[in-house]
Amino acid sequence: MVSSRMTSEAAIRRFADMVRTGEVAEPYGEPRLGVDLGTANVVLSVVDGENQPVAGAWVHSTVVRDGIVVDWAGATTVLRRLKDDIERRTGHRFTRASVSIPPGISEGDTKVFRNVASAAGLDTDEVVDEPVAAARALGISDGCVIDIGHGTTGVSILSGSRVLLSVDEATGGHHMNLVLAGAYHIGYDVAEVMKKDPTRIHEVMGVIRPTLEKMASIAEAALVGFDVPAVYLVGGSSSFPDAPDVFAQRLGRPVIRPAEPLFVTPLGIPMKELSDD
Ligand SMILES: Nc1ncnc2c1ncn2[C@@H]1O[C@H](COP(=O)(O)OP(=O)(O)OP(=O)(O)O)[C@@H](O)[C@H]1O
Ligand SMILES: [Mg+2]
Repeated sequence: MVSSRMTSEAAIRRFADMVRTGEVAEPYGEPRLGVDLGTANVVLSVVDGENQPVAGAWVHSTVVRDGIVVDWAGATTVLRRLKDDIERRTGHRFTRASVSIPPGISEGDTKVFRNVASAAGLDTDEVVDEPVAAARALGISDGCVIDIGHGTTGVSILSGSRVLLSVDEATGGHHMNLVLAGAYHIGYDVAEVMKKDPTRIHEVMGVIRPTLEKMASIAEAALVGFDVPAVYLVGGSSSFPDAPDVFAQRLGRPVIRPAEPLFVTPLGIPMKELSDD
């Protein structure tokens, strides 16, 4: 059978467009839902039976901090609202979802993620480690996935789609905001906007480069003793044009950052392994 599946890169771009525009694609087979409760963003993703993106929704939210649900009622409300929105746009009612968790969190904290989904009317299909989800969206099963989000830098080494080692340290986009706010004597929210302003990228890089270098050194320490085939950079804080170079220099090997790095992990959450035909 000739497959018309998009490449991983094209699917990630398509999914990012869907999240931003609200556009929906016709699913091939039964659609599946994924839930990513992040520190800065809650993202819902829908893929079809061929792992192709169908729909997405997101909202900025502070219900989770560094992988822990800190506002249970808020998390439930946000999730239910996004689910309703997705259901309205796709015309499909979801009663199940796959839910991602940062690798290495406790059984108890994992249960909280499941409970939030349950309170929003969703039974948990699968609990997926975030780097495993990222690897699915990237179409890889081996290598190193570095996820720089808002709260933390996560470095995971995968072999045969399993996480061999994972470290998660508290350095993320939040810390970049603090450094920018201090350097320019501006408020935290103003710093967040400035950080993402493409017209100020050179000024911003001058100030946040040491934070990116700190993240790269976290990855360097985690990689000691591992010979990985490739290193992938994902998460919203890897959006800076120079981010792959900063990591490549420190790690002494090429670093691949897909377009739209913020949407890689969410897209992979509901994906299932497919045969190659
Ligand atoms: N264009 C951009 N340039 C720089 N930073 C960006 C850009 N877009 C998003 N970010 C930053 O990415 C971060 C959010 O990324 P992401 O959604 O991957 O984090 P998260 O999953 O919510 O957090 P965590 O993984 O730590 O729980 C925020 O700090 C945000 O400011
Ligand atoms: Mg994240």
